[in-house]
Amino acid sequence: MKRIVIVGATSGIGLEVARLCIRAGWRVGAAGRRKEALEALRSEAPGQVETETIDITRDDAPERLARLVERLGGMEIYFHASGIGSRNTALRPDIELNTLRTNGEGFVRMVTAAFGHFRSHGGGRIAVISSIAGTKGLGSAPAYSATKRMQNTYIDALAQLSRMENCGIRFTDIRPGFVATPLLSGDGRYPMLMRTEKVAARIMHVLRHPRRRVGQRGADLSSCQRIFPYLPHHRRRAGARPDAV
Ligand SMILES: NC(=O)c1ccc[n+]([C@@H]2O[C@H](COP(=O)([O-])OP(=O)(O)OC[C@H]3O[C@@H](n4cnc5c(N)ncnc54)[C@H](OP(=O)(O)O)[C@@H]3O)[C@@H](O)[C@H]2O)c1
Repeated sequence: MKRIVIVGATSGIGLEVARLCIRAGWRVGAAGRRKEALEALRSEAPGQVETETIDITRDDAPERLARLVERLGGMEIYFHASGIGSRNTALRPDIELNTLRTNGEGFVRMVTAAFGHFRSHGGGRIAVISSIAGTKGLGSAPAYSATKRMQNTYIDALAQLSRMENCGIRFTDIRPGFVATPLLSGDGRYPMLMRTEKVAARIMHVLRHPRRRVGQRGADLSSCQRIFPYLPHHRRRAGARPDAV
């Protein structure tokens, strides 16, 4: 029985992956800011799920993660599903800076805490959801795109650090295209929109059969790759297609 901590388990992809982990008989440490959503998940399998409210933008987040891991009885996989993203063509500074705080600062805070845990416990796996948006800057969401590229590079660097120090930590960087979750609220039209359940099932497969990257080279989530041709096309013909995260 595996023990997985999912930060960002209150909605969207993280919630669906949490449900699949429960169905697989794994123990799940679920975290996010919304206490009621965490309680609702826990009520689905009280014997299998531990919860902790964690706001990854706050300094106490690593301490709360450590408490959650202790209650779970250990952790083999840390899965980072927390993130925010908004269309921001007006370049509102509050939106841009909040995105940096959550997807940049919060991401680093949590994956370094997980790295520290695994380094002192003989290894483990860190899986993160970044995005295909890290491949190209999307004009509609500059901070979102940039933080996703940062996440890709950060994970590459941590993987190298783990090899250098022989920490036994493995990494999976999941880079989906557009997924029908609350993150895509609003009136945008999204090409190749995927169902959350389908993406979660593919992520679950990768958690069982680890890969270093997913969604980039036509492995799992390969349909996302077909968005690539769309992006330059969109740049050439501004307004011909909707901007989207
Ligand atoms: N949907 C897509 O099209 C798409 C595509 C590529 C990548 N992604 C990435 O997939 C990840 C999950 O997104 P989603 O689509 O599943 O959206 P979602 O349904 O909005 O889920 C986002 C999750 O992040 C958590 N979160 C946000 N801010 C947080 C904070 N400060 N502290 C702790 N948790 C926080 C939310 O929990 P609380 O609100 O309870 O804190 C929620 O559980 C994100 O990193 C997103 O960038 C999504």
